[in-house]
Amino acid sequence: MGAKLAKAAEALKMEDGARVTVRGWVYRFRDLGEKVFLVVRDSSGIVQAVFSGEAAAKAREADVEASVIVTGVVRSDSRAPGGKEIVGEAVEVVGASKNFPITKDFSREFLLDVRHLWVRSRRMQAVLKIRHTVFGALHEYFRRSGYYEVQAPMFITAAVEGGATLFPVKYVDGSTVYLTQSSQFYLEALIYSLEKVYTIAPSFRAEKSRTRRHLTEFWHCEAEVAWAGLEDIMRVEEELVSYVVERVLDSNQDELKLLGRNTEPLERCKPPFYRVSYDEALEILEGKGFKVAWGEDLGADEERALVEEFDKPVFVHRYPEKAKAFYHKNDPARPEVTLSADLLAPEGYGEIIGGGERIERLEELLEKIKRFGLREEDYEWYVDLRRYGTVPHAGFGLGIDRLVMWVAGLDHIVDAVAFPRTIRRVYP
Ligand code: 4AD
Ligand code: MG
Repeated sequence: MGAKLAKAAEALKMEDGARVTVRGWVYRFRDLGEKVFLVVRDSSGIVQAVFSGEAAAKAREADVEASVIVTGVVRSDSRAPGGKEIVGEAVEVVGASKNFPITKDFSREFLLDVRHLWVRSRRMQAVLKIRHTVFGALHEYFRRSGYYEVQAPMFITAAVEGGATLFPVKYVDGSTVYLTQSSQFYLEALIYSLEKVYTIAPSFRAEKSRTRRHLTEFWHCEAEVAWAGLEDIMRVEEELVSYVVERVLDSNQDELKLLGRNTEPLERCKPPFYRVSYDEALEILEGKGFKVAWGEDLGADEERALVEEFDKPVFVHRYPEKAKAFYHKNDPARPEVTLSADLLAPEGYGEIIGGGERIERLEELLEKIKRFGLREEDYEWYVDLRRYGTVPHAGFGLGIDRLVMWVAGLDHIVDAVAFPRTIRRVYP
């Protein structure tokens, strides 16, 4: 009888006696003399194959991470991972793997040096599958909710989020341009055409501090909506985040389990999220021994302490003017604060979204650019949007790597990305 080509996970579901061929990589290798065990890994999972006699001699040539094609008969065995194994008849080594370098050193730095190989690990595989679900769910949510997907340029000429983290690039004509920090301004231009827009793209920040949650290149999901205010955009954000989390819970139970993720906090993640004002946040923090001068932004430590008080994501709204970029609209009821909100993830993770209402009035924007010490000529086209049919509008930017970090329960953002870029690392 011919053997059926199957994935490892499918082989584990086949009847005893079925003949199967699995293609993959040697995950574990054990030589017991008479018998050789190969645990074969593919994109679906792992399955054990056991060889004796002539086939064992061949199996002995298959080192860890060699690519192999294994054929044999499925048999139940409670000792095998998944409760079944393949009684191997033949094994072909397609690509040898002499001295695979990941053996004893599992330090973060070493695993980052060999990230091109470590992406094969079951942990990375699980994270990458969750990431896949997250990206898919973000697109699904927006497309079902009537948004148009748009694309903005990566080369830009002026800061969105302040000059300190701009990445200069020498352009073809010799001038200096920058890598984008956010697609926001382009999305603002596009709402006059499409009203509700979103984009998923990299953003770049020359972040000088080394933290657990900063990359120099990160994936940014941004949305902008015409005729919307702060309340409207917060509702979009909580629906979006809840939708993504729900999709991960539906699709990635195996991966969450492999990562040891307690899913209870994720199951609670349903609208409405908590809402506290910046002022209330300072009061809570004061009660916990933190001293934040009014007007200062909240740092990672403050955010961690604050979210301890909440069992779901929490919005902090109405940050002081000086804690937020110039484009934020000041609250007409209280001009010293802005109509802004950050969304903080629970369990110590902190900020995953920044957003709010934008200034729609020309005079107000020009005045604020001046007050912030910025040059009007740098923002000429952005200001222009207020000259021709301006509308109230709001939007936000979600850090996808941070969202994955929280959902997967990781303790460092570099583990949420296949090939992370940080202040010290642009290799591999
Ligand atoms: O809060 P930020 O700086 O807001 C903006 O860029 C707005 N222009 C977005 C908008 O309204 N369209 O960044 C938004 C989010 C943060 O909440 C964070 O999750 C993520 O982007 N982020 C980073 N993620 C990883 N590494 C970094 N260096 C990040 N900087 C921001
Ligand atoms: Mg922010």
